[in-house]
Amino acid sequence: MKQLTVTAAPKPFSLVCDTIAPDKSISHRCAMFALLSDQRSEIKNFLQGEDTLNSLRIVEQLGATVERMGSDVTISPPATLSEPGTVLDCGNAGTGMRLFCGLLAGIEGHFVLTGDKYLRSRPMRRVTDPLRAIGAKIGGRAEGNLAPLCISGGALEPFRYQSPIDSAQVKSALILAALRAKNPSYYKESFLSRDHTERMLRGMGVEITKDEEGWIKIIPPIHPLKPLKITVPADPSSGFFFAVAAAITPGAKTTLTNVSLNPTRIEAYKVLEKMGADITFILKEDIYEPIGDISICYQERLRSITVDSNIPWLIDELPALAIAMATAEGTSTVRNAEELRVKESDRISATLEGLQRAGIQTREQKDGYDIVGGTLHDATINSHGDHRIAMAFAIAGVRFGMRIEDIACIETSFPNFYTILREISEVKDGN
Ligand code: S3P
Repeated sequence: MKQLTVTAAPKPFSLVCDTIAPDKSISHRCAMFALLSDQRSEIKNFLQGEDTLNSLRIVEQLGATVERMGSDVTISPPATLSEPGTVLDCGNAGTGMRLFCGLLAGIEGHFVLTGDKYLRSRPMRRVTDPLRAIGAKIGGRAEGNLAPLCISGGALEPFRYQSPIDSAQVKSALILAALRAKNPSYYKESFLSRDHTERMLRGMGVEITKDEEGWIKIIPPIHPLKPLKITVPADPSSGFFFAVAAAITPGAKTTLTNVSLNPTRIEAYKVLEKMGADITFILKEDIYEPIGDISICYQERLRSITVDSNIPWLIDELPALAIAMATAEGTSTVRNAEELRVKESDRISATLEGLQRAGIQTREQKDGYDIVGGTLHDATINSHGDHRIAMAFAIAGVRFGMRIEDIACIETSFPNFYTILREISEVKDGN
C-alpha cells in the first residue's frame, strides 16, 4: 500500500498552475463520442489518467484506431463497431461504465462491462432500469444493479423519462441511447447536472433542445456526426485542491489556467469565495465550453458556511471543501448530499473519519455532515481507495502536515498531482 507524507509548507506560496489535469468528464466523452462520427476525431490534452485511458482502451476494443502522441489523441472510428472478444474494463470509473451502458445498449452485439472492486459495488440500476424500460437487454448481479454487466445490444424505443436523480451520468447514458432510437426522445431532470454531453453532441451536429418546462429533446441523427476537434480544458474539480490549498494558507495564492468555467462545474469556487477567499474568474474563450483562468488568494481566516443547494454542481469538490470547512471559524453544514455515499467511496464517512483523526469535531447525517472548524493536526488518513479523499487530505497536509495511506487511486484522475504538490510543500512517498 503506497503512502504519502506531506509536510506543512514552510512559507506562503504563489503557484501558477498550467498543468492541472485535463477534464475527466470531457475526456471520457471525447473517447466515446468519437465513435459516433465516421471521420477521425482530434483531441488535444486528453487526460492520461487511468479512468480515461480505460475508456480509450474500450473504444479500441470496439474497433476504433487510436493514436496517441503524449496527451494528443486521434480516434478513427470503424465503419461498424465490432463485438469485442473480451470483457470491457472500466477500472474505477463510474462515468465510463454508466455512459458505455447507454452507448452499447443500442449497438448490435454482446458486451460485458466490468471494473475494479470499488466500481463493482456501486449502483448501476439508475441507468440499467431506464435503459431496460426502452428495450435494452442488460443483466448484472443484484438484478442488474451491480457489475459485471452484460449487454446484448439491439433496437431501442424512443422515450419520455423524468429522472428521479439529478445525475449527468444517467442523463448522458439516456441521451446516448436516444441517438439510436427511430424517433425523438425526451429527458428531464429537476436540477441541471453537468451538461458536457449536450454541449459536445450539439457541437457534433445533434439536435438537442430544451423546452421551457425543462424537457430535453433529442432527435436521432440521420447522418454520422461531425468529428471532434477539441482541446480538453483543465479540470476544475482537480484544480480545486490547489484552490483550497491557497484559501487556507495565510499569504498564499494559486492561479489555474485554461480551466473549464462551465457554470455546472465551478460552484465550489463560489462557495469558497463566500467563505472569505478572494477569487477571480477570467473568461478567455468559448469552444464547446467557456474556458479561462481562476485565481484564488488567501484573504482572511475562512468563515463557516451552509451548503444545502446546487449540490450536483459541487458534488466532486465536497471532500476538498470539507478541508476548507475544517479550518473555518464556526460550524459548517452540508445537507442534501446523500449521493456522496455512492461515489468512489462513501465520501461522507471517509471524509469525517479523516477529519476526526486530524482532531476535528464532526457530526454525521444521513445526507451530509456538520464540521466544527478548528486546527487540524498531523494524522494518518485512510483514502479508502478514493482519489478525491486522498488528494483532499494531501492538501490539508500543505498547511498542517498529513500522512495518507492507499494513494495509488490518485492515478485515476490526476497523475501529475504530486509534481504540483511538490512545488508548494515537502512530499515523501513510500510503501
Ligand atoms: C460525472 C458526473 C458526476 C460526477 C462524476 C463525473 C460525469 O456524477 O460526480 O465524477 O462525467 O458525468 P453523477 O452524474 O452521477 O452525479
